[in-house]
Amino acid sequence: MTPSRTPHRLLPLLLAATATATTLLLTGTGTATAADPPLRDLATTKGKVIGTAVTGNKLTGTYGDLAGTQFNSLTPGNAMKWESVEPTRGTYNWTEADQIVNFAQAHNQQVRGHTLVWHSQNPGWLTNGTWTPTQLTGILQDHITTEVTRYKGKLAAWDVVNEPFNEDGTYRSTIWSNNLGTDYIAQALTWARAADPTTKLYINDYNVEGVNAKSTALYNLVKSLKERGIPIDGVGLQAHLILGQYPSSLQQNIQRFADLGVDVAITELDIRMQLPATDAKLTQQAADYKAVMGACVAVTRCVGVTVWGFTDSDSWIPDVFDGYGAATPYTENFSPKPAYYAIAQAFGGTPSTEGCTASYSVPSQWNTGFTGQVTITCSAGRSLSSWKVSWTYGAGQQVTQAWNANCTQAGAAVTCVNASYNGTVPSGGSVSFGFNGTWSGSNPVPTVTLG
Ligand code: XIL
Repeated sequence: MTPSRTPHRLLPLLLAATATATTLLLTGTGTATAADPPLRDLATTKGKVIGTAVTGNKLTGTYGDLAGTQFNSLTPGNAMKWESVEPTRGTYNWTEADQIVNFAQAHNQQVRGHTLVWHSQNPGWLTNGTWTPTQLTGILQDHITTEVTRYKGKLAAWDVVNEPFNEDGTYRSTIWSNNLGTDYIAQALTWARAADPTTKLYINDYNVEGVNAKSTALYNLVKSLKERGIPIDGVGLQAHLILGQYPSSLQQNIQRFADLGVDVAITELDIRMQLPATDAKLTQQAADYKAVMGACVAVTRCVGVTVWGFTDSDSWIPDVFDGYGAATPYTENFSPKPAYYAIAQAFGGTPSTEGCTASYSVPSQWNTGFTGQVTITCSAGRSLSSWKVSWTYGAGQQVTQAWNANCTQAGAAVTCVNASYNGTVPSGGSVSFGFNGTWSGSNPVPTVTLG
């Protein structure tokens, strides 16, 4: 083989020998890089939380392992909703909510309480009853006080009010706004603060991620609550997004809430796609996830991101949006998807090399020298935008010159990174680089590491 000799960083030993004598082909396969740290550790380095909605009775086995190790915040997906905790008036069932809070404490995780005042998932006795405004006020105050007091000191935040607005920024017509007027929001916040003065009190809504009529209505509400001295600590942007429809004003919107003096959390992130999922869609989804994460990382008062279910097997999307799914960072079988690695990267993790391998071969060898070659190959659906390959020689070999990569050797340790022009390893494709080296005695193939 006749490699093209491009400039290199190694001090070249003049290679007198030409690669003619013996031609050997020795190969060894490198393994993918060691896994990145868990998402929660990466998030911590950025001062953020990474959370997931969970279902209490699933918190065992692989689901429990991943929920406990990858995330540092949990939100009960349904367990703290009114219909769950008080299905019959005066009869409380805290089983699942307690289970989640206990799991979180055992795993050193925060909990976001979700949710106290909503138009949906209320018990029948409440929605079917006939109440005077005074009675309804009493019922709501009692509900908030009971539930917030039960978890007093244990929750980082409460979604006190959920989804109060219509798309055009008017108040949604609900049992609360219709009977109590829109100041039920201020009252709910005030009662929640009285029951637990330390937990952060949020208003949470969907389609308020970008700057639009609905998010502006929320902005104006928060501004007026602040001016009135009503306790409001944060705004939750649910972020139930559609593939390829990342709201480009997300960061600007987060920033304007932060500038009002409240925290912002992305509370229910998922990015749904029309099924079936394809490699192209999963790649787009990863880009969308990364953009959302990046917007939060960029704003100090964005406290973090919670995904609404971390596995496609625990996502509400297929049940509610016909033909859509694959919205979370893990497959139904708990394999991390490109979106998982995108989240890791947004928190400063190194790009994943999963699905890509490096192999080392010696196409030619002669009395004191040899030519080596490393090929990096990615399977379909995987790609790299940059690469690094390293190995340690076991028999005193010394790289003298490399092409199509920048290589350095320190002692026995060799590290090669891509040249400016060949960082991309395409899906289902490969990139090779070559080098010359010296050997004596033996020239065993080293184990190479990609990443
Ligand atoms: C969803 C749950 O994930 C489903 O299991 C349930 O059937 C319906 O509610 N906005 C919210 C969440 O604030 O509480 C909703 O959760 C999803 C939309």
